[in-house]
Amino acid sequence: MSYIPVINFGKQPTHANGFVTKEEFGTEPFYDMVIGFDEETDAIRLMEPAAREVMFNDKYAFYSKTSKKMQKHFADTAEELKDFLGDGEVAVEIGSNDGIMQDAWKALGKQCIGVEPSGNVAEIAKNAGHTVIDGFIGRDVANKLLSEYKVGVVYGANVSCHITDLDEYFDSVARLIGSHGVFVFEDPYFLDVYEKCSYDQFYGEHTWMFTVKFLERKLAEHGMEIFDLKPLWTHGGSMRFYVQALWGKHKVNKRVAEQKEKEGDILFKLNDLSKRIQTSKEGLLNILELVKDKRVCGFGATSKGVVVTNYCGIGPETLPFITDTTPTKIGKFYPGSHIQIVSQNETDYSQFDYIVNFAWNHFDEIKEARKDFKGKWITHVPYPRIT
Ligand code: TMP
Repeated sequence: MSYIPVINFGKQPTHANGFVTKEEFGTEPFYDMVIGFDEETDAIRLMEPAAREVMFNDKYAFYSKTSKKMQKHFADTAEELKDFLGDGEVAVEIGSNDGIMQDAWKALGKQCIGVEPSGNVAEIAKNAGHTVIDGFIGRDVANKLLSEYKVGVVYGANVSCHITDLDEYFDSVARLIGSHGVFVFEDPYFLDVYEKCSYDQFYGEHTWMFTVKFLERKLAEHGMEIFDLKPLWTHGGSMRFYVQALWGKHKVNKRVAEQKEKEGDILFKLNDLSKRIQTSKEGLLNILELVKDKRVCGFGATSKGVVVTNYCGIGPETLPFITDTTPTKIGKFYPGSHIQIVSQNETDYSQFDYIVNFAWNHFDEIKEARKDFKGKWITHVPYPRIT
């Protein structure tokens, strides 16, 4: 595959979820965050993905259970997927994090085995009584699972786009599902990013930005096909792909071909997006300039916010802090932009005129919970504005 550079975000911290202490300022690694496109396969990905061990280790800062809405999302998902499980079969979840989806399977009386390389989040799932295999998914882990279980469903939420070596990954999944099982995965989707200009879905952990065109081809190389799709609200716009062995028992829904048609000229869209991202940056900086004499803080210390603040050049002089609920983030600073993270529960939002929302994908849930805030929200998605 040969990638041409299409979007350039300049220098970004290698690990967007790598929150730092004051003593660590200046030690965090950076890389040129450039998005590439391969015209032959329609692949969109980071030109220089970081080594997976840099991001997924015992200090992984993202805990899935922080959002109530996500708990409901996974409960609904397990309810839907349970019909794919045959007698005596288990589900396997790739990137099971703190066990949010394993809880949902358990509530339905079904077993789900997790595979998780980040020890700190896996510990929470284990403490809740779930079985988790420590490590990255690969052929060895697949063989181990097959020696112990009959696998009916393999599921991955916001994890497949993190896996740089898709060949080993898809090969492992193909072994796990065999000719009878299904592989269901959901990730941020290119057309949503394009339409919402949600450029902060590009960051170090997200090696790939998926399109149906690319996935169809890549999965076929491993003897699998997409038989259905479902657009999701998660992560600001994701796509769920339903996959089986080629010519499997599920009829291929016409939605798959229709969605591919909608993707159209991807290179044209990427070039257009690149220009709109630049405009979005200027718009957000103009708004922050307008409110510079007001009381402003940030909300949700997301990795998306790390991309936005580093790309736009927003530092502590503009945003004194960002609030968050995650204990391991509180007290630390954003890598690169060095904005401090403070506890959401200890913040008196009534003292602020404006909040910049970096967790814009959870806005409904946040607005509902933040009735104490009487000021206005600032967002950059789908375009910079004060709401
Ligand atoms: P995400 O957008 O990648 O799901 O990350 C959500 C982050 O926002 C996570 O660090 C938790 C934080 N958060 C809050 O601090 N307060 C909230 O009310 C919500 C919904 C999320």
